[in-house]
Amino acid sequence: MRITGRTRLAGIMGWPVAHSRSPALHNFWLEEQGIDGVYMPLPVQPEQLGQALRALPALGFRGCNLTIPHKQQALSIVDRIEPLARRIGAINTIIVAPDGSLEGRNTDAFGFRENLRDAIPDWNPSAGPAVVLGAGGAARAVVAALIEARVEEIRLVNRTEARAELLARELTVPSARITVHPWIARNSALADAGLLVNTTSLGMADEPELKIDLTQLPLSAVVVDIVYVPLETTLLAAARRRGHRVVDGLGMLLHQGRPGFEAWFGAPVRVTRELRAAILTTLSAHR
Ligand code: ATR
Repeated sequence: MRITGRTRLAGIMGWPVAHSRSPALHNFWLEEQGIDGVYMPLPVQPEQLGQALRALPALGFRGCNLTIPHKQQALSIVDRIEPLARRIGAINTIIVAPDGSLEGRNTDAFGFRENLRDAIPDWNPSAGPAVVLGAGGAARAVVAALIEARVEEIRLVNRTEARAELLARELTVPSARITVHPWIARNSALADAGLLVNTTSLGMADEPELKIDLTQLPLSAVVVDIVYVPLETTLLAAARRRGHRVVDGLGMLLHQGRPGFEAWFGAPVRVTRELRAAILTTLSAHR
């Protein structure tokens, strides 16, 4: 890499930020495209997020991504919030406009949709209800993507039911019916579903397993896990054994980076097998 006076700058703010795979992702694309740019990990303490974001235009940054714990706090700092980010209640991408103002976007719903589209091009949103496990930030993005895809019924299943109720209320639209189901009823919520998505942290390395019985899930249903460490979670392995088509979470991570990259560096990028392999190497190196 060669840094010049014209090098375009972007990065990711988080606290901590060392675990983030975004630098590997964006620098892969920069190198692949031969763009004079660099993408930096930016460790920013929560108390200094406002100062750090306001400094972006002064430092010549095109923008940045945000990760834990900054995604919600940024809503009260940026100058403009894209409607989807407001609905989801979190910002993961910031674009510095030519006048130095900051625009906040959320590209997680885009990442989920593109990953699903890539893996299962013929997935049919009308094939049946979608069951979403979890009601955290990731679930909000997934529900927003499912609504956008015109899924008619979304069944939210979460350990803390009140959180699912809140999500359902905040994201509700006339085109979709969002119902809330107790965690204990997760097996029966699968009956006649067309899609199952795990957005909880269960099944992630060092977290408890996701215990769910797939017997009632129609074999035509697609099963998605947004966990990507490990890539093949117990849920995906069980679904694969039953004959379901399955989608792992790595693609969502890679696709969510595309809109930011395209805005900052002005070039369209793709999620290729080479990119997946490169990021997978960094995942195993960090474990
Ligand atoms: P993210 O922003 O990545 O979605 P989060 O907001 O911490 O992360 O959400 C984690 C999700 O995993 C939540 O739905 C959480 O359930 P609660 O809302 O009840 O906390 C779910 N989760 C985490 N540990 C769980 C467990 N042991 N059993 C069931 N659900 C769990």
